Amino acid sequence: MRAISGLLDRDDRARLPVRGGVRCTRAVGWSDITPVPRPVFAHCGTLGIGVHADYRGRGIGRKRLDATIAAAWRFGVERIEPTVFMSNLRARRLYEKLGFLPEGVLRRQRKVNGVYEDRLFMALLRERDHMEE
Ligand SMILES: CC(C)(COP(=O)(O)OP(=O)(O)OC[C@H]1O[C@@H](n2cnc3c(N)ncnc32)[C@H](O)[C@@H]1OP(=O)(O)O)[C@@H](O)C(=O)NCCC(=O)NCCS
Repeated sequence: MRAISGLLDRDDRARLPVRGGVRCTRAVGWSDITPVPRPVFAHCGTLGIGVHADYRGRGIGRKRLDATIAAAWRFGVERIEPTVFMSNLRARRLYEKLGFLPEGVLRRQRKVNGVYEDRLFMALLRERDHMEE
């Protein structure tokens, strides 16, 4: 199975202090969309994304997601499916801004120390202008 990754470019790398005269950089985020590994679901891709906690709220997630979604459409994906815990407002807002719509709630899907949390199933469908003739 092949994942469509948002390639990190220079803007997504944090500059680290110079050590021993060598300036280093490190990746601070990633995103990928993995097609579901069965022929009848292969037009669907599962979305994953993460930005290092120190670098959130700077537009990196949005930029990564834009690039990864565009790559997924080019690859032939027609439906992108993230799931997100209800309390994860930042991720939910990001997905909503990009046009993802809620499709259902997985109730009490996580249980941590006796506390349940619902998980939201969302999806983005490929628009006609991304479809090949
Ligand atoms: C979700 C995540 C990838 C977003 O990345 P990010 O780089 O912080 O996001 P951005 O800075 O691009 O912000 C995108 C949008 O998120 C929303 N947002 C940003 N900070 C927010 C905050 N503190 N609270 C609520 N929403 C917020 C805004 O709508 C923002 O768009 P805007 O700035 O144009 O209004 C990042 O927070 C993360 O890695 N979280 C932990 C892992 C995770 O939850 N992954 C998703 C699992 S479903």
